[in-house]
Amino acid sequence: MNEQFEIVEDRDDIPSNPTNNPRVADLINARLSRRGFFKGLMATSAVAGAGIATSGMARAQDASTLTFKSIPQKIAKTHAVAEGYDADILIRYGDKVVADAPAFVPGAVDATAQNKQFGYNCDYIGYMPLPVGSDNSEHGLLCVSHEYTNAELMWPGLKDAMGASQEQALHEIAAHGHSIVEVKKTDGKWQVIDGSDYARRISALDTEMVITGPAAGHDRLKTSTDQTGTRVIGTLNNCAGGKTPWGTILIAEENFNGYFGGDIAKTSEERNYKRLGIEPDSWYSWVKYFDRFNVEKEPNEPNKFGWMVEIDPYDPTSTPKKRTALGRFKHEGATVFLNKDNSVVAYSGDDQRFDYLYKFVASKKYNPNDRAANMNILEDGTLYVAKFNEDGTVNWMPLVHGDGPLTAENDFNSQADILIETRRAADLLGATQMDRPEDVEPNPVNGKVYVMLTNNSKRKEPNIVNPRASNIHGHVLELTPPGGMGKDADHTADTFKWDIFLLGGNPANADDRAVYHPGAESWVSCPDNLAIDHKGRLWISTDGAPSSDIPDGMHAADVEGAGRALTKFFFACPEGAEMCGPEFTPDGTTLFVAVQHPADGSTYDEPSTRWPDFQDGVPPRPSVVAITKQGGGEIAS
Ligand code: FEO
Ligand code: CA
Ligand code: CA
Repeated sequence: MNEQFEIVEDRDDIPSNPTNNPRVADLINARLSRRGFFKGLMATSAVAGAGIATSGMARAQDASTLTFKSIPQKIAKTHAVAEGYDADILIRYGDKVVADAPAFVPGAVDATAQNKQFGYNCDYIGYMPLPVGSDNSEHGLLCVSHEYTNAELMWPGLKDAMGASQEQALHEIAAHGHSIVEVKKTDGKWQVIDGSDYARRISALDTEMVITGPAAGHDRLKTSTDQTGTRVIGTLNNCAGGKTPWGTILIAEENFNGYFGGDIAKTSEERNYKRLGIEPDSWYSWVKYFDRFNVEKEPNEPNKFGWMVEIDPYDPTSTPKKRTALGRFKHEGATVFLNKDNSVVAYSGDDQRFDYLYKFVASKKYNPNDRAANMNILEDGTLYVAKFNEDGTVNWMPLVHGDGPLTAENDFNSQADILIETRRAADLLGATQMDRPEDVEPNPVNGKVYVMLTNNSKRKEPNIVNPRASNIHGHVLELTPPGGMGKDADHTADTFKWDIFLLGGNPANADDRAVYHPGAESWVSCPDNLAIDHKGRLWISTDGAPSSDIPDGMHAADVEGAGRALTKFFFACPEGAEMCGPEFTPDGTTLFVAVQHPADGSTYDEPSTRWPDFQDGVPPRPSVVAITKQGGGEIAS
């Protein structure tokens, strides 16, 4: 392993899969070795681009349909965007969300204020046009998740999260969850509408949620504060997300395990909690102050987290709903494809080394003329887990009670048990162990599905195609359902085909064995989130480039034609930040992005950057950025 790429162990990513199910990298190795993937990609480019592969880089770059000029991959104190574009800060940690929110006070400890202000570490962004059902690209709701907090960057005197006081812990709890703000573009600039009736904070502090679907009301979800097993306060670690055709948003509960502490052996859920990585030592101070985070005092509380949560942003009084039918694991997000027969299919990755890729097919179909009838579609359906085969196919295996090993013999007494312990059920079916599946998005233009596999430093065996003993830069898979292109693709099918879209890493470093289009202008490390523009092109955001000599940011690439996998670099995050939440307006003229944890690795007292305010005494602040083309028009067109 190259010393340059030494990995710092992510605590949120200690593998917990105990099975020997095949690892996707092994299958890729087997498949790519057989058919000569490198030669295949080069040959495709050469044919499509009339000699691109042999005529030099300039001709190759002309192959891309993306019209912007790549920016350098260089770390800086502030962000950078391609020439000819504006990147404006739209809303920052601590900014006002609801009408009576106070102004941000740097370093203040005030959970009540925070519960009305924009939370920390913005991640998923959903743009929801106003009115509902329209394609208005200049006026809508911006729905933003707040994944986690960095106490050491929020307040002076702290080295890490565990040092937070009880008051600070409450503030952190309020800084988790989700914000909904009304936004409008006036004279080419986006603004948050002050005092909007839609404005809402959803937090882990006091937002009551309902648990729906097959696991609702199960004994394993009952706690001292909820004897019904159907209610829960708040949502945790909301990472990526998705939108439904009926105008709701889906937010994912990812590394919820880290908030809990105590001895899991003292609960009846030891096997369940071990598989999800709940450890005696929490990652946060909360467990010291609040019993609900201590499994010895509230043994079933963790079973109320790890779900997908559906929110109707158009109704600020609506109760968010945890959709147990989509399974319980470390959901990165969930993205929906509407089949032409109106079947609703949602894809979801379980973001952990060696964990799995899932698909959910709802029982009820979408009714384009009846929003109310669609609101509970995600309450019932079939959850599938992916098994990749060396012949280039992938099987979606249903996780259904009574099928195969999913019976009482293995302690699955009902579908609820399967959903509460989704990982263990998938283990028994022999699902394929993946290299950390993050965003999984269907592309409505070509009908294929793109899977971000961010990295897997625990992979031990080097192989010919990816000689890194650990897959530290990650890769992108492309899945092709049967039925045809675009809307003809049948996402309900049991068998798809799979292919590699790119293998991350630095093409200039032979050891990386990266694979892109030969004219690639940027190199990708740790693909995480994905947006697809209305031309079907991929906009890939990165998290935690482990080489640390390039910034995280936004890459883009064509998926079809001569420019397939020709990556270009559009936006660079400031130092320490990860890129999240890419989201286009329907007309493709605005790209919203979330800059998460700027100055990560430093402290409030000595931040590595004070982005975006750059004022003494004002800490770095995670923020949403609105990117538009100077003079207007579609981005990259
Ligand atoms: Fe929260 Fe998988 O990134
Ligand atoms: Ca993510
Ligand atoms: Ca991530």
